[in-house]
Amino acid sequence: IVTRDRAGLVKERETLGVGAGGATLGLVPTMGALHEGHRSLLRLAHEKADHVAVSIFVNPLQFGPAEDYSRYPRTFDADLEVCAEEGVSLVFAPAPEDMYLPDRQVGVSAGRMGAIVEGEFRPGHLDGVLTVVLKLFNLVRPDLAVFGQKDAQQLAMIRRMVADLDVPVSIVGAPTVREPDGLALSSRNRYLSRDDRAVALALSRALAAGAARRTPEEVRRAARAVLAAEPALAVDYLVLVHPATFEEVGDDHSGEAILAVAAKVGSTRLIDNVTVTL
Ligand code: PAJ
Repeated sequence: IVTRDRAGLVKERETLGVGAGGATLGLVPTMGALHEGHRSLLRLAHEKADHVAVSIFVNPLQFGPAEDYSRYPRTFDADLEVCAEEGVSLVFAPAPEDMYLPDRQVGVSAGRMGAIVEGEFRPGHLDGVLTVVLKLFNLVRPDLAVFGQKDAQQLAMIRRMVADLDVPVSIVGAPTVREPDGLALSSRNRYLSRDDRAVALALSRALAAGAARRTPEEVRRAARAVLAAEPALAVDYLVLVHPATFEEVGDDHSGEAILAVAAKVGSTRLIDNVTVTL
């Protein structure tokens, strides 16, 4: 069942018997161009909820003026096939003009956490993500929603939003799906040439090198050395941060931390991360 409007959502919730002690609904928000990573989220949603809904919406609010909104891959027909194969009950695919009022004023602010790490390189990006995710929650009204650890800061910020704004949706995190050679699956990987792809492997290699070390200093040094050996990589950041706040961990930190990297390969910007236990 595909719906592009709000009225359709209300009707389909009724048809599925969702809500008020009835069946539970799990939502997987996406921007389409669905790949094996998205599929893993759908499968996890199926384990946690009676019915699974997917939203497919390339959210203009989370793209900066110099970013790839217009050339972001749009593969709607193939996406619907994936949804059918994965037993999705409801696909919500609104048009931008149906999501945002022309005189829109109010949005979610990601606060300080939205201005550091990824937020430093993509100002306003996490505000745009949180705003659309809250809108999708309000429209679809799921019991739970699944997000990938691939976008670790996004996942942490959504958990923060849900806590700070008392949003009645359970957030489920899903592990990162990778190619056999380590490259994290991403809709943007299709932009990579064969040479780019070889360069891009330095990201997951650097994270693996870091994750094999046991102190913050060694983790950072080992990862940085791998990145430095790949001059074709334009690194935005390599950080070792607290999983919940994305603040840099100190040299005496013990427990879990996230080693996160962002870099451009040619004109394609990639991000990846791994959880490190110190
Ligand atoms: P998108 O990039 O389409 O990703 C949708 C979901 O799939 C996100 O939760 C993301 O973390 C997850 N995902 C992507 N690649 C993955 C991988 N290799 N392994 C596991 N999960 C992966 O993230 C967005 O869309 C948008 O920001 C959105 C949340 C939909 C708001 O617009």
